[in-house]
Amino acid sequence: MRALITGASGLLGAEVVRRFREAGWQTLGAARSFTPDSQHAALDITDPDQTRALFDAFRPEVVVHCAAMTHVDACERDPQEAYRVNAFGAEVIAANCQRIGAACVYISTDYVFDGVKRAPYHEYDTPNPISVYGRSKYLGEQAVQALCPRHYIARVAWLYGVGRKTFPQFVLEGARQGQSPTVIADQIGSPTYVADVAEWLRMLIPTECYGVYHLTNPPPVSRYEFACALLEAAGLSVAPTPLPMAHWQTPAPRPAYSALISWRLRWAGLPPMPPWRDAMRRFLRAMNQPQ
Ligand SMILES: NC(=O)c1ccc[n+]([C@@H]2O[C@H](COP(=O)([O-])OP(=O)(O)OC[C@H]3O[C@@H](n4cnc5c(N)ncnc54)[C@H](OP(=O)(O)O)[C@@H]3O)[C@@H](O)[C@H]2O)c1
Repeated sequence: MRALITGASGLLGAEVVRRFREAGWQTLGAARSFTPDSQHAALDITDPDQTRALFDAFRPEVVVHCAAMTHVDACERDPQEAYRVNAFGAEVIAANCQRIGAACVYISTDYVFDGVKRAPYHEYDTPNPISVYGRSKYLGEQAVQALCPRHYIARVAWLYGVGRKTFPQFVLEGARQGQSPTVIADQIGSPTYVADVAEWLRMLIPTECYGVYHLTNPPPVSRYEFACALLEAAGLSVAPTPLPMAHWQTPAPRPAYSALISWRLRWAGLPPMPPWRDAMRRFLRAMNQPQ
């Protein structure tokens, strides 16, 4: 399989490149922040000419589109840039996939949902985003669906991994410095390990069962309970300080409940994603290994 990965300098993109190469796939990472010594190709997904040229040169069979403006509050402050990167960028990628006959994998988010359901969202629930980030990502989904019929929409959530500082690293660092990390108590979701997303994408792509998939580690958990479990598993006897979501003032609203479940993985013949406790333990082991 010849795979092109956008956003290869990001948390998920880097992991997907690594996993696909381990699996023997011919994999090219593309990154906006290109440096001459970088292993990645240069690609700004909002540049139609550059995108067309890279697709023509590499001729991927599948494109995993991980690049996005991911800072939720920055999107709220600069909607035009959010729509440019997350919606227009997805249009450019999807149109080029269709043009050269590649399948398009669009990485989306739990933040396409409003949280009102208060039960895990499955693939047939109707999105209703409440932030600019969520709306821009949902527009990206719709563009991919309209422009490239051979697509997968893979919704992920609360990503963490060893590639950059994510929620677990903040919790652990604070605790190691003897501080009690402040953690939102009543936000419930699906903390998800990027290594599992990359592996499930690798299994999903050859199925040709196109459509929407929720790729998250079950079951639902609050940020607070996740932080407590992390600290305990890391052997740190520090209790986090719970903060109600109502006291957490941010430019962008977040859904109080955004846990995802998957119906469609089983229907496509794939195993369920591993539970978050199992994923968290593997993440802690990976953190202690030299990179
Ligand atoms: N992180 C989460 O908790 C989370 C949750 C749900 C869904 N997601 C989705 O998962 C995907 C991956 O997220 P992530 O956490 O791995 O993101 P990330 O670490 O922030 O990486 C995003 C990547 O996109 C690149 N990018 C931004 N604008 C670009 C442009 N115009 N052209 C080319 N590349 C561009 C960034 O490059 P620069 O370094 O040059 O800016 C970066 O490499 C995204 O689609 C995101 O919406 C993430």
